[in-house]
Amino acid sequence: MEAIKQLEELVKSLKSEIKAVKNDKELQDLKIKYTGRKSELNTILRSIKNLPKEEKSVIGKESNKTKIQIEEILARKEIDLQKQEEKEILEEKIDLTFPGKKTPLGNLHPITQMYNKVVRVFRELGFTIVEGPDIETDWHCFEMLRMQKDHPARDMQDTYYIEEGEVLPRTHTSAVQIRTLMNQKPPIKILAPGRCYRNEKPDPRHTETFYQFEGLVIDEKTSLKDLKSTLTSAFRRLLENDDVKLRFRHNHFPYTEPSIEVDGTCVMCGGKGCRTCGGDGWVELCGAGQVHPEVLENFGINSDKYQGYAFGPGIGRFVMLRHQVPDTRLLFENDLRTLEQF
Ligand code: DAH
Repeated sequence: MEAIKQLEELVKSLKSEIKAVKNDKELQDLKIKYTGRKSELNTILRSIKNLPKEEKSVIGKESNKTKIQIEEILARKEIDLQKQEEKEILEEKIDLTFPGKKTPLGNLHPITQMYNKVVRVFRELGFTIVEGPDIETDWHCFEMLRMQKDHPARDMQDTYYIEEGEVLPRTHTSAVQIRTLMNQKPPIKILAPGRCYRNEKPDPRHTETFYQFEGLVIDEKTSLKDLKSTLTSAFRRLLENDDVKLRFRHNHFPYTEPSIEVDGTCVMCGGKGCRTCGGDGWVELCGAGQVHPEVLENFGINSDKYQGYAFGPGIGRFVMLRHQVPDTRLLFENDLRTLEQF
């Protein structure tokens, strides 16, 4: 039986030829060669019908078996090739160490960074963080802070009125002192950070909007000595400079008595004198003072028993000193070339 031999040879030669197959294209060629219309196998299959009866069933069975065998060999190779491809992709072709495409990530605005730091530092010093509304009444923002309508101190804070003489975007966070005194009894130890608004012509040290943080401490024993140590400790941390010293100068605010202006040694020159501090080695950091007895009495707090201090620095000032920003307006322009540096 010549055909049987031929079928065995077919399987043998396929087995040896398939070893050299390296890709799908070569496999397809081999498939056509062994199972296609013009293949040897097909010729045998087609010739079966013409064979004598006794050979027909034997050769028929054998060639079907061979056909299945050949298809299995080809299918197995196809799976092998796929696995091989996956392995190559994983092991070599995809270089996992190759740098990916970078999506530019933003970061927090320098004011926000300092704002968060203020909150963190004062919390550590035992202050409770509170907030007040940006839109205030004249009563909270001025009247209760002993600035009546014709008070000259109002000139210092050019106000944008929403309703003339009644409703305004707050000019300072001191209004939160009043909101706190309305709701709390001593001991009080709060810090109120927030945004303020003034109708001011912008220059290197002023912008129409800025951020402040207001501190208010009221209890039986607190004095200006505590104000000095609290602010020294806080300001050193905010400016990341342990050598900063504070000095108190006389000033006037209607809601404090005595009122003081707090200066710190210039972090730029360490107090020697430079352009930032205008040559005298000190920079203004905030207004502060001992809370005026009348402010307390207005809220039923006995000013013989209780006293305390308040302070209200600008956040931008600390950003400027910490990062050597020459012009406060840069912090409000939102120019990415500036902001990317923080
Ligand atoms: N409110 C003042 C301002 O915006 C700053 C200030 C001065 C706040 C004295 C205080 C204070 O709490 O006691 O200029």
